[in-house]
Formats: sequence, C-alpha cells, structure tokens
Amino acid sequence: MGKWRWLMLATCLCLIPFSDGRELKAKHVNPNSLYNHTLATILVRYASAVYLSDLTELFTWTCSRCYGLTKGFEIIELVVDVQHCLQGFVGKSKDPDAIIIAFRGTQESSIQNWVEDLFWKQLDINYPGMSDAMVHLGFYHAYHNTTLRPAILNALERAKRVYGDTKIIVTGHSMGGAMASFCGLDLVVNQNAKDVQVMTFGQPRVGNAAFASYYSKLVPNTIRVTKGHDMVPHLPPYYYYFPRKTYHHFPREVWLHNIGLGSLVYRIEQICDGTGEDPSCSRSVSGNSILDHLLYYGVEMGSGEPGNCRIVMGPQASDNSITDPNGNIFLSRDPASPLQELRSEFDNQGNRISAE
Ligand SMILES: *[C@@H]1O[C@H](CO)[C@@H](O)[C@H](O)[C@H]1NC(C)=O
Ligand SMILES: *[C@@H]1O[C@H](CO)[C@@H](O)[C@H](O)[C@H]1NC(C)=O
Repeated sequence: MGKWRWLMLATCLCLIPFSDGRELKAKHVNPNSLYNHTLATILVRYASAVYLSDLTELFTWTCSRCYGLTKGFEIIELVVDVQHCLQGFVGKSKDPDAIIIAFRGTQESSIQNWVEDLFWKQLDINYPGMSDAMVHLGFYHAYHNTTLRPAILNALERAKRVYGDTKIIVTGHSMGGAMASFCGLDLVVNQNAKDVQVMTFGQPRVGNAAFASYYSKLVPNTIRVTKGHDMVPHLPPYYYYFPRKTYHHFPREVWLHNIGLGSLVYRIEQICDGTGEDPSCSRSVSGNSILDHLLYYGVEMGSGEPGNCRIVMGPQASDNSITDPNGNIFLSRDPASPLQELRSEFDNQGNRISAE
C-alpha cells in the first residue's frame, strides 16, 4: 500500500511540470457552478409550455403557461410534426440572454403505456461518427429524421443574422429531454455551435456508456434534472453487471427530492457525481412514480389533456403558418421584425383584447 502511494505521488510530481495548468483546471470544474437553480426554474417553464396545443397562444407567447419568469419571450419558429406527433419551438429570451429551443414530450394516449414500453427499448443504432456509441433509434429519429431538425436549424440561421453567436439553451421534459440532448449534441458536432447548454427534466436514458462519454465531453454544460421516484430516468434499465450492453446516462444529474422528518420536510437539490449513474442520486430509490414525473419545481409537465395530438390555431397564427404536404405545421417569424399584427390583439399587459 505504502509503496503504491509513493509511486503515485512520484508519478504526479513528474506529470505536473509537463502538463498544461489550464487543462488540469478544466478537469476539475466545480460541479456546483454548473447548476443554477434560478435558471432551472425558468427553463422548466419552457419545457412545460411546449406541451400546449393552442398554437396561436404559443406563437404569441400568451398561453396559460407563458407568463412570469418567461414573459417577453419571442418565438422565432414553432413546428408541429403532425405525422409523428412532435412539437418544438425556437425563440429568444432576455433572461437568460439566449436562444431557447424546447421539445415536447410524448403525447400518447397513456403515459403509463409509453413508460412500460421504455423497458424494452433496444440500443439499436450506432451514433454516426462515434465508434461504439449506441443509441435508441426511436429517440434518435424523433429529432434527426422528422421535420423538427430542419425547421430548428433554419430558425437558428435566421436568429444568428439578428443576434450573432448568442448562447443556445436546449431543454425538454421526458422524451422531449431525450430529443433536447440529441439536438444539443447535433449543434456542437454538426453545426459548429460554440456555446450550447442543455437542461432536461425527467428524461429517459438514450444511449450506452460510450455514447455518454462522448456526449459529456462534447456538451459538458448539461444538467439532467431528475425528481424523487420519477420512473422515466430509470428507463430503459441500467444493468450494473452488463456495462457494455446497457443504457447509461450522461452527467450531470441533479436529483430533486425531499427529506422528511415528521412535519419538517426539506427539499434537497442534490448535485450528483460526474459518472452519469451516481448510485446515491435517483438510482438510490426505486423508480415507481408517474406523479413525480409530471411535476418539476412545482410546474406541471405534460399537456394536461390526456392523449391527443390536437392542434388549435386561430386565424392570426394561421397567417404566419405554412403547412407541408404531410400536414406538418410551421409558424415562422423574422426575428428582426416584431409581431405587429399579432401584438395589436393584446394590450400592453399582454392580456387578450377580445376582437369580436
Ligand atoms: C443564474 O441564472 C439566472 C437566470 O438566467 C441569472 O440571472 C443568474 O445570474 C445566474 N447565476 C449565476 C451565478 O450564474
Ligand atoms: C427517415 O424519414 C424519411 C421520411 O419520413 C423516411 O422515408 C426514411 O425511411 C427514414 N429513414 C429511416 C432510416 O428510417
């Protein structure tokens, strides 16, 4: 034992003079500096709002979930992939000063069925360009092989002309979190984006350990918020004894949970280790709650209207919309010009003035 210590110490001493000081520092990023509670309480509202089906209210940011901390958000693109029942938006927020991209989670008629299905998801395709990195085809395709990706990339291009190289934050809840992580990675790997941050809520695992390792190097500014006994982050399952065959989360998890002592209940926001599979975080409890999946930071996730891909669109929004031959809907705005016609429908407090 003593010999080993000496050997290690000697090795370290030898290495120090030859290593770059900055690199050493970068490897010891203080995990506490990555997680910003205030930012999380703002982003969770975007991840919640993107579930709503009234496209007019979303596009004009006057929906029932579009107030308070997200007030003044300006949508640049709202896209509904009707074929696959997916929805996402891109917009500009003032605080944080960033372009925000949000993805909706699953809209299946039964969240219970969707969750049960997650047990059987295979690691079925190789992530392009990353040897040994396997991911789930369904999640991968939801972002990469639907109308969402081209619409989002196009909106980012338009935003860039107005805002330059602004920070980009990608968020989503549940399957929307899985899509957000593929999007964040895509922006770094294929779009050369420099400042990308990802924060997801209750997302499932999307790939294996090799994928998680690539991901965490490429998108280090990622927080994966989990809560209490939320089932979804436990799925597809992680099998400790089959490290090469199993799904593996990327870091950094922040686990929200309560510690109760009689009438005293403390809310804990535990910043987990850098492995992605910290055994003292959500993995320390059983994933047996759907209710925990549907409420993050006191904000309701999900659509609130079970099981539909319903779309509501008033005449104002339809003026800005394009429908492709497959019925997919794109609502676009030039970020340089404000939504004048739409704004006139609302007073300066953002309340709707009834026009009829
Ligand atoms: C945390 O995020 C909020 C909201 O964007 C921001 O105002 C605040 O400055 C951030 N705090 C730190 C320490 O970065
Ligand atoms: C990707 O999507 C297109 C159009 O929806 C489809 O024709 C194609 O088969 C998909 N590719 C794969 C590999 O599934």
